Amino acid sequence: MDKNPVFPEALIDALRTSRHVCVLSGSGISAESGVPTFREAQTGLWEKFDPHELATPEAFLRDPELIWRWYRWRRQLVAKVEPNAGHRALVDLASQVREFTLITQNVDGLHQRAGSDSVIEFHGNIFEDRCFVEGCIVKDASDVSSAVPTCPACGGQLRPGVVWFGEAIPEDALDKAMAAASSCDLFFSIGTSSLVWPAAGLAETAREAGATIVEVNPNPTPLSNMSDFCLSGNAGTVLPDLVSRLLVPELRA
Ligand code: OAD
Repeated sequence: MDKNPVFPEALIDALRTSRHVCVLSGSGISAESGVPTFREAQTGLWEKFDPHELATPEAFLRDPELIWRWYRWRRQLVAKVEPNAGHRALVDLASQVREFTLITQNVDGLHQRAGSDSVIEFHGNIFEDRCFVEGCIVKDASDVSSAVPTCPACGGQLRPGVVWFGEAIPEDALDKAMAAASSCDLFFSIGTSSLVWPAAGLAETAREAGATIVEVNPNPTPLSNMSDFCLSGNAGTVLPDLVSRLLVPELRA
């Protein structure tokens, strides 16, 4: 990416005059923190496993110990990294616009650690534990270190509090995300391959409701052709540059 990228004036205008900016982020925004993107996540011991086959309720039922080992490895990986300039730029962006909604498919909590609040976690949070039987989030489970921890209330097996393939999005997150997508006037899709539904459908909902669509990604995705602006580059460079462009005094409202 150019060191001094030129953003289209129409995009800066759209940002400056927007009523409601809605952002959907994906694993690409955490890549520069050192969290491999979902499709590249398998290294070392886990190389031979396909994440699509591990992140399912069927895989958990088949071998809960294996799934816990995978998630503990991922929890350790995420706990060691820090939010990056892309996460921080979204905190700054939120303070520059009238209304801001951040929806993330990421389960790593890095947006919150960067300082974003009210983040809608579309696919849950990797550090939470959930009862496989009753579905409730279990805080401070006493035996989380055991191979397959159990729910203190019902004795059922605990699972990581993330959404797996084939599972429904938590109702509250889905409702809030749909409401934001259909009421925003500017929708950013950042660091996501736009392949996984229903998250990928949020941009379409926003577009049908008349929002301007902006994609930030070094690679083209199925959303690129439907986007009004494609900012080709890494989120950790593009977003801080965009926010600093917004802050140029003569361009502020
Ligand atoms: P993917 O791994 O599918 O896509 C990551 C995207 O990030 C790709 O389009 C990359 O080009 C882009 N990318 C890589 N580095 C980037 C950077 N520095 N800045 C910006 N973009 C970058 O990950 P997701 O789209 O997040 O769901 O995947 C969505 C969901 O699919 C995940 O939440 C997970 C997965 O299956 C579940 O587990 C249910």
